[in-house]
Amino acid sequence: MQGSTNADKPLLQALAGQQQTVPPIWLMRQAGRYLPEYRAVRQEAGSFLDLCYTPAAATEVTLQPVRRFGMDAAILFSDILVVPHALGQEVGFVEGEGPKLAPVRHASDLAALSVDRLAGHMAPVYETVMRVAADLPRDAALIGFAGAPWTVATYMVEGGTSRTFERVRTFALGDEAGFGALIALLVDATTRYLIAQVDAGAEALQLFDSWAGVLPEGQFNKWVIAPTAEIVRGVRAVHPEVPIIGFPRGAGARYEGYASATGVTALALDETVSLDEAVRLQARRPVQGNLDPMAVLLGGRVMEESVAALLEALAHGPYVFNLGHGINKETPPDHVETLVGLIRDGGANRRG
Ligand code: CP3
Repeated sequence: MQGSTNADKPLLQALAGQQQTVPPIWLMRQAGRYLPEYRAVRQEAGSFLDLCYTPAAATEVTLQPVRRFGMDAAILFSDILVVPHALGQEVGFVEGEGPKLAPVRHASDLAALSVDRLAGHMAPVYETVMRVAADLPRDAALIGFAGAPWTVATYMVEGGTSRTFERVRTFALGDEAGFGALIALLVDATTRYLIAQVDAGAEALQLFDSWAGVLPEGQFNKWVIAPTAEIVRGVRAVHPEVPIIGFPRGAGARYEGYASATGVTALALDETVSLDEAVRLQARRPVQGNLDPMAVLLGGRVMEESVAALLEALAHGPYVFNLGHGINKETPPDHVETLVGLIRDGGANRRG
């Protein structure tokens, strides 16, 4: 698009399996409330969803962390809940309370949802992808994303964030066909949505399955692995080369099985994955992660030592530096600046 190639972009090289002297770095939720420049744009935009659907403002906040910290990637500014919104569900974000959705509780509630509105609804999001792709520094990559069906379904059925997941878990266990229809709708919508993001200029994709860890074995296979495998197949049928990062947060011992059964290109590891396990997982594909977000919130020696341990363990293979989950909103921006310096100086020292 701008005459740049993968060879200019450390993130794409790492995702292609190449070890880098200095690992590429980006952070989950790198655009957000810990940045004063984000809060300023957010206030101007009105609601959080207005910000997601206003290309000029969404482009600006997507680029802010790249500008401020020199991140190796921008991640599209949007949310995983724009998909249920596009399908016709009522979605709102209540200040200080998180997302609120008019819940889908039974198979009969699915009649109100349709994938037909997706393309029109998402037009401003694709416009944002195009604008970011045009404005990004040539060595930074653009990551598109979506929530994985299980995680998006938890919000759709619970009506918001949950601690117990009893409604979505009993729906999935008690009406497998009905819940399966919801998951099938999400697989279809998510596949189309990700393909369109790549069409618009996204160079890598991440699938966020933030609540993958709450499911027992058989349910994990049905609602995490199978739908993710289908999305990966569907996206690759159109865009065979695009790297796909899978993030089955909390999957623990199931990370390896998830990766081999879904065919994702790389694994995003949450902070509960041990360094030994991370090294084993990295033997078979690139890994991303898994600094504890609390170490960045705290900063200082704890952050330094955690970073050193991660680089020592993982920088000898294909590795993307990141956190194990989104950055905490109270994190001082200068801790992030120090973090980026630690990765790049650490790499420079290893070079010599
Ligand atoms: O910088 C980036 O990573 C890109 C943008 C992004 C957002 N949300 C912006 C956002 C991404 C990739 C997400 C993913 C997302 N959204 C997930 C998966 C990752 C995870 O954290 O587990 C989930 C579960 C959601 C759903 C969601 N969105 C919740 C539960 C909340 C409320 C919690 C909170 O932090 O307030 C949101 C809101 C949200 N999404 C904000 C941002 C910057 C804060 C809203 C605001 O500005 O007021």
